[in-house]
Amino acid sequence: MKIVSIVGTRPNFIKLSALIEEIKKHKIEHILIHTGQHYDARMSRLFFDELGLPEPDEHLSLNLEGSLSEQKKLLRDAIRTALEKQEPKSDLVVVVGDVTSTVAGAEAAYELGIKVAHVEAGLRSFDKSMPEEANRIETDKISDFLFTTEKSGNDNLLKEGVDKDKIFFVGNVMIDTLLKHKEKAKQSKILEEWGLDKNNYVVLTLHRPCNVDNKESFENILSILEKIQEKIKIVFPVHPRTKKNIELFKLDEKIKNMKNLIITEPLGYLDFMHLMANSKLVLTDSGGIQEETTVLGIPCITLRKNTERPATVEQGTNLLVSADANKVIEESLKAIDNKIKSNRKIPELWDGNAAERIVNILMERFKK
Ligand code: UD1
Ligand code: UDP
Repeated sequence: MKIVSIVGTRPNFIKLSALIEEIKKHKIEHILIHTGQHYDARMSRLFFDELGLPEPDEHLSLNLEGSLSEQKKLLRDAIRTALEKQEPKSDLVVVVGDVTSTVAGAEAAYELGIKVAHVEAGLRSFDKSMPEEANRIETDKISDFLFTTEKSGNDNLLKEGVDKDKIFFVGNVMIDTLLKHKEKAKQSKILEEWGLDKNNYVVLTLHRPCNVDNKESFENILSILEKIQEKIKIVFPVHPRTKKNIELFKLDEKIKNMKNLIITEPLGYLDFMHLMANSKLVLTDSGGIQEETTVLGIPCITLRKNTERPATVEQGTNLLVSADANKVIEESLKAIDNKIKSNRKIPELWDGNAAERIVNILMERFKK
């Protein structure tokens, strides 16, 4: 069996690291294509080094400009060319998550008649304004193996008419990576570096277009942060999209004036995990962080109206609060004062063995 994996963005590197390790353990021939969608050293190289990912066999360096559909087309064509070079042809292309590189990789493989495996299939926010939702639906439509992380994924796919024999509930590879690196992350010196006391600061990440691409929405969030930082330090590793918009909307001054808001560059995986694991509360609009905080048992307030990951709300520590300023402040203060529910459980199969389940299924299916 020959497998090609496609990665392009920070969460892709994290999610696929566990799977690639498992593929290599079984001595399966593996080719890695990096689409270059994320390219800053702190969004890409750092994760390859920390997670021990193999060097990409192909690194596409595209100038991704224009609309999302133009970007998808550029990526799809370049991935297709890279796949066409493979001799012998690969048996399977693995894509993960819901970013442009995911759907572009799936489409390129589909066009060439190569089977597609989608890891993290079936998640639905039912919010058509999110590009990720279209990416998920399109990728699932053309995938041959749909590996789901939570039961809602199976339900969504069955409702959409996907053949049940293509759907495999395997658990969560992002949690495989987290459990694998949890001990090592404890060696991080990030708390000392920033003068933070355990259990006495908030972690913040923001990068959703609905929160940061519009000046009014971004300012609304800053007004929330102004209040919270009066009570507790907030550490904010700034995503490149968010950084660009801080400059564009001239929000630097406002941010600088918040004395308890600590701004950093995007952090490496181990530092970031250590930071989350010792925090009082995480405020985020990230997909993956909703899942990681659930497993770490850290309260998470998600600044979005919906989530494609309902298990994190129903079973985990996640609370959806949109960006209603009063509500976010109220709920954050409750979390800071330890006044929130604590009987939480870890979703089924988020046990560190998802990658192993995936590889076992693939080996069985591709047995000659
Ligand atoms: C992308 C995904 C999003 C995912 C996020 C993870 C899409 C449509 N969006 O959002 O689902 O949650 O990654 O972090 O695929 N940039 C840099 N340096 C980098 C990376 C990006 O400067 O290393 C800039 C880009 O040039 C662009 C902006 O940041 O101007 C946004 O990048 P892009 O990859 O389009 O989307 P993200 O917001 O990163
Ligand atoms: N992350 C990180 N450093 C940071 C911020 C996030 O390593 O400064 C990790 C985080 O732990 C999670 C992943 O990046 O594993 C989430 O990526 P992101 O929020 O960019 O994407 P999303 O999950 O929203 O698609």
